[in-house]
Amino acid sequence: VDLHVRIDGRRDLSGQIYRQIRAAILDGRLRPGEAIPPSRELAVRLEVSRNTVSVAYDRLNAEGFVSGVVGAGTFVSGRIHREPAAVRRPGERSTDGRLRPRPVWDAIPEAPDFTASAEFDFRLGLPDARLFPHETWRRLVARELRTAAIGPGKYAEPAGHGGLRTAIARHIGVSRAVAATQDDVLITNGTQQAIDIIGRVLVEPGDCVAVEEPGYRPTRRVFESLGARVVGVPVDEEGLVVAALPDDARMVYVTPSHQFPLGMSMSMQRRMGLLAWADQRGVVVVEDDYDSEFRYGGRPVEPLQSLDRDGLVVYVGSFSKVMLPILRLGFLVAPASLHRALRVAKYVTDWHTTLPLQAALARFIEDGMLARHIRRMRQEYFLRHSRITAALAGDLADWLEPIPSAAGLHMAAFARTGNADDMREVVRRAGAVGVGLHDLAMIRLAEGRSGLAIGYGAIATERIDEGLRRLRGCLAAVLPGGEGSPRRA
Ligand SMILES: Cc1ncc(COP(=O)(O)O)c(C=O)c1O
Repeated sequence: VDLHVRIDGRRDLSGQIYRQIRAAILDGRLRPGEAIPPSRELAVRLEVSRNTVSVAYDRLNAEGFVSGVVGAGTFVSGRIHREPAAVRRPGERSTDGRLRPRPVWDAIPEAPDFTASAEFDFRLGLPDARLFPHETWRRLVARELRTAAIGPGKYAEPAGHGGLRTAIARHIGVSRAVAATQDDVLITNGTQQAIDIIGRVLVEPGDCVAVEEPGYRPTRRVFESLGARVVGVPVDEEGLVVAALPDDARMVYVTPSHQFPLGMSMSMQRRMGLLAWADQRGVVVVEDDYDSEFRYGGRPVEPLQSLDRDGLVVYVGSFSKVMLPILRLGFLVAPASLHRALRVAKYVTDWHTTLPLQAALARFIEDGMLARHIRRMRQEYFLRHSRITAALAGDLADWLEPIPSAAGLHMAAFARTGNADDMREVVRRAGAVGVGLHDLAMIRLAEGRSGLAIGYGAIATERIDEGLRRLRGCLAAVLPGGEGSPRRA
């Protein structure tokens, strides 16, 4: 490492060098085994004699902070006892800093931690990475990283790779009946950035943004961070309750094909009702179609985007479920009146999404590999969905009331008895026996019926039964009236 050492004046030069290197070792900036600069090089850099530096290094050596290896250099010693953080003396500068973020950032929690893994992983929002076609994807990405493909490596078009936008327009035209051309599509770093860009373009501080309650919190946080007044609107078995929308909403954010987290699909009547409501007020409807590719039955309901006749819907799609969330690839489809502003907002935000990945994804779609992967995953997820549905109707029926859902990567169920504390205890006990899952209260912002959300993207199909058997034990231990009471299924 190129350690920064600063010399003030001409006094005690060796002492200054010694103290700065010692401090860097003690506070961890220099780690055991790391080389410190050769004395000759540091002397030239600081415009001091080599002897001045050698005196400092000899002292560090004598005190055990560094050791020299002849011909190889000087290295930080292996075992250093770190000093506790120094107490600041009056007049000394604060290392904390006086700068404070806008208050809204204190109110927004950190991103959830997905690093821990569960033996039986029923957590939400995770696809099965084991079944991803890694070899194919690696080949496509490697091709886009070749010198010829990169060319001069200049900044690219903010709206995204032209081939990818065309491929997406065609893909959603066929699979979702979304009417779009390349010009309507803008590539983003996942849904999260699509919402951020839409918010920047359409939401003023203080505006009312209506979201589903319970609903997907990460996108709600975007609106909060933009200074919007976010209002939760209840959902029932037909989806968002349009009659409960606040009159002054400037934007409505919904997940119609698979409500997050409860899992129902928005009925056609509600869809038409929402569009009529938005039309009367000129309000934008943001349709998050995050896992619509996985449907296991029932007639697919048309997206709001294709029902919209007034150019009021912005459709958002993601590759996090059909591929992997770490790729951070998604897109939005917007009416022409927003194209320019969205493109400029994307440019202002991060100029454009990483181009080699966009190009690789374009090939992946064009060559039919995405469609093949989706078909394969749909079959696998359908098996998982069926097992969980059967368990909810059988072994778990005494405690849980499933919410009908025929799509996506998770399903939800209300608790028949027990309150939010009981559910928290069920989830805690489940965690202790290796079962990871979410309590609905973790997803809600307002009070509501307690229950569980059960994801099946990450768990291998053959592990589901044992995972649910363990969950059953936790439910029976916490909630009254389960064991022995008549089955309701
Ligand atoms: C409702 C909803 N929208 C979108 C996403 C995907 O977000 P992103 O594309 O930012 O990964 C998720 C992931 O869990 C989700 O639950």
